[in-house]
Amino acid sequence: MKDLNEFATLSYKGKEIQLPVITGSEGETAFDASDLRKTTGCVMLDKSLMNTAVCLSSITYVNGEKGILHYRGIPVEMLVEKCSFVEVAYLLVHGALPTKEQKSTFSHLLNVNSLMHEDMRHFFDHSPCGAHPMHILSTMINALAVFYPNVDQLSLKEDIELSTARLISVVRTMAAFAYKKSIGEPVVYPRHDLSYCANFLNMMFDSPVAPYEINDDAVRILNSLLILHADHEQNCSTTTVRTIGSAQVNLYATISAGISALSGPLHGGANQEVVAMFRHIQEIGSIEKFFNQVKDKNCATKLMGFGHRVYKTFDPRAKIIKKKCHEFLEKMNIHDPLLDIAREVEEAALKDDYFIERNLYPNVDFYSGIVYRALGIPESMFTVMFALARLPGWIAHWQEMIGSKTKIVRPRQIYVGKSLKEL
Ligand code: SDX
Repeated sequence: MKDLNEFATLSYKGKEIQLPVITGSEGETAFDASDLRKTTGCVMLDKSLMNTAVCLSSITYVNGEKGILHYRGIPVEMLVEKCSFVEVAYLLVHGALPTKEQKSTFSHLLNVNSLMHEDMRHFFDHSPCGAHPMHILSTMINALAVFYPNVDQLSLKEDIELSTARLISVVRTMAAFAYKKSIGEPVVYPRHDLSYCANFLNMMFDSPVAPYEINDDAVRILNSLLILHADHEQNCSTTTVRTIGSAQVNLYATISAGISALSGPLHGGANQEVVAMFRHIQEIGSIEKFFNQVKDKNCATKLMGFGHRVYKTFDPRAKIIKKKCHEFLEKMNIHDPLLDIAREVEEAALKDDYFIERNLYPNVDFYSGIVYRALGIPESMFTVMFALARLPGWIAHWQEMIGSKTKIVRPRQIYVGKSLKEL
């Protein structure tokens, strides 16, 4: 961050105040309003924080106008080609890609922490079959604090490393167990000899009567998807994590809150809604008819997987996922009619003034569900996949917030209710 010794002048009722101007590493500029209320008695109103930077962060940079995304200064386009998800998780949490030795230590930590406390399994055994895996996941992560209570006093670097590894690893086990529970099959335990993604696929699809054969292409594309979802600066769930964490809530409860925020259909829940939308378009047999529903302000219908608060051009992740999705389905000789529909919808929307005028482009959720379908992952698990991927991002932001001695987040409001004199 550069302090340019520049100021923005705010004048009101004959008084002028100087707001310091700060500039970030990539040239973003902010007016520092930290002393605004103290000096003017006024606050800024910025509903949904659309124009407000809530922190300084060194983790991820997003440029919505140019469609740029990089983690710790490295473009995602490079990371997705050259790294594994575990290496990117290390990058986000520790600030640099791991050396060979650091990767071996981190992988060992992930392995020895991949088992869930056996008593936690009873929760799965007694949860209703139809429970949505995101609700199970959020609950189970919160329950980790019951089984590992020292998380309430995380201060030592080693404790944070251990809790971080436990979260990244055991959540993968919980996700697979939740799936097995939902289909009435026995759970499959993690194996020490498999990589992070291969282990997940094996826990999901191996069974005593039909051994699962690890497919390298499936492992590779799952690594890519998890890398592309691993962080995205101050999105709704990450801001939730930083807000909850600022009250010094333990890491597990903080991440559980992040999962709940992600489950919303306008956020991480969109990937499941996108596939439901493709099936709906398939049923009505007309993209134009569907677009008319979207344009009808009396309808709450949205073109799911399109639009973004920050990207006003292509989401770089959507471009990569689209390409990898096509390559993977071709390699696996899978023909998914929903991919044809996805392509037709994208092509039609990119030519339609309604979407063009509103800068609506495909986002990370538009094609991801097609890949998950090709991997055999059910729609109810799509947002769980997003949560698995976002864990390192959330943890990195939590650590950054704790490390920067952030004060408890407590914004102001403008009261517009009844005033006392009217009572
Ligand atoms: C993620 O923040 C992040 O970084 C999130 C994320 C991450 O990695 O963490 O990138 C992941 O959440 C991606 C987004 C997934 N959600 C969806 O795909 C749901 C569909 N998209 C929309 O709900 C919407 O685009 C949002 C919520 C993503 C963003 O909404 P904004 O920024 O609040 O935009 P807006 O609602 O102010 O829209 C401006 C206009 C409005 O029309 P008008 O009132 O001007 O006529 O665009 C319209 C909106 O109605 N619009 C849409 C639309 N998105 C916006 N119209 C139809 N379909 C859409 N998808």
